[in-house]
Amino acid sequence: DASDISKGTYDHYMLKEIDEQPNVMRKISQNYINDDGTLKVDKDLLTELKKADRLYIVAAGTSYHAGLVGRNIFEQLADIPVDVELGSEFGYHMPKLSKHPFFIFLSQSGETADSRQVLVKVNEMKLPSLTMTNVAKSTLSRESDFTMELLAGPEIAVASTKAYTAQIAVEAVLAKALGEAKGLESAKNFNLKKQLALAANGIQTIVDEKEKIKELAADYLTDQSDAFYIGRGIDYALSLEAALKLKEISYIHAEGFAAGELKHGTIALIEKGTPVFAFVNDGIGASHTRGNIQEVEARGAHVLVIANQKYAEAGDQIIIPEIDELISPIISVVPAQLIAYYASLARGNDVDKPRNLAKSVTVE
Ligand code: G6P
Repeated sequence: DASDISKGTYDHYMLKEIDEQPNVMRKISQNYINDDGTLKVDKDLLTELKKADRLYIVAAGTSYHAGLVGRNIFEQLADIPVDVELGSEFGYHMPKLSKHPFFIFLSQSGETADSRQVLVKVNEMKLPSLTMTNVAKSTLSRESDFTMELLAGPEIAVASTKAYTAQIAVEAVLAKALGEAKGLESAKNFNLKKQLALAANGIQTIVDEKEKIKELAADYLTDQSDAFYIGRGIDYALSLEAALKLKEISYIHAEGFAAGELKHGTIALIEKGTPVFAFVNDGIGASHTRGNIQEVEARGAHVLVIANQKYAEAGDQIIIPEIDELISPIISVVPAQLIAYYASLARGNDVDKPRNLAKSVTVE
């Protein structure tokens, strides 16, 4: 039960929270989607959103990465341009805004000061805003015009897991609702109820492979000080989050990279045995990413491929079950969460309370 804050039989909150993700997907589906597939989204929010010519998603850390995934979802389902911004940058270097901007704040805690200082300015400018948060009565929620709850239940581990997947799911709810309000076929045809059911089942499949992933983490990361995560499109956004998870709790230096950009410099760091985790869920990028995998393998990289079943090839190590590409990071992030968890555990680190980090950062 995702609303339970005890550790139960788990050694760490992080593993418990990873395991709760199928339930979180079901909860989001139940709360936001009626039996007939229509969505339960505030009408006033949709009226306001329909006036917008551009969305500005503002966030920090893992929530920022969920925003990068969301950009694609909003653009595809709701046909609206999206900027994704770091609060710490945007607050002080606000770019020239579009004529009718709408702000979406993504924040697990709803308390992140870097994001809040942007909201303060947005309110001064009398611009409309929504907060997607896990904490209903949080500061960001109170100070913005609208709130959508993530419904992930309390997240205790500092490294965010279920809030990330919940954010992607709730972004999909809103994107579909907006697309439908605009009468778009792309939104109507996107069967979110089915996709969230696939997400729940797919996460469960990965979670059930824990022991195998634990062995892979040992095989790929023991005695390593650097790792790379690569992918294209939706997998590039995912790579950034996968790398952050590993850094946060294992203290292994990791980088998330656009697979095609690697050759423009960073490939110089690849040597014999360097671990490279390659994501292949993006249909358009899949064959090109395969080419990049060959490039790094030719330089000695130890490559682990995490591929959607549609694009999987012989020798791939982790297969992602069926899911629409748009929300595929909901499943494909889970192997990365588990790899980070087991790498951290093997190093004897404090998994739930990594050094130098806080769950919610209320100073700028
Ligand atoms: C902190 C946490 C991160 C989190 C970030 C944003 O730095 O350590 O895990 O992603 O804040 O937090 P928020 O609550 O705004 O999503």
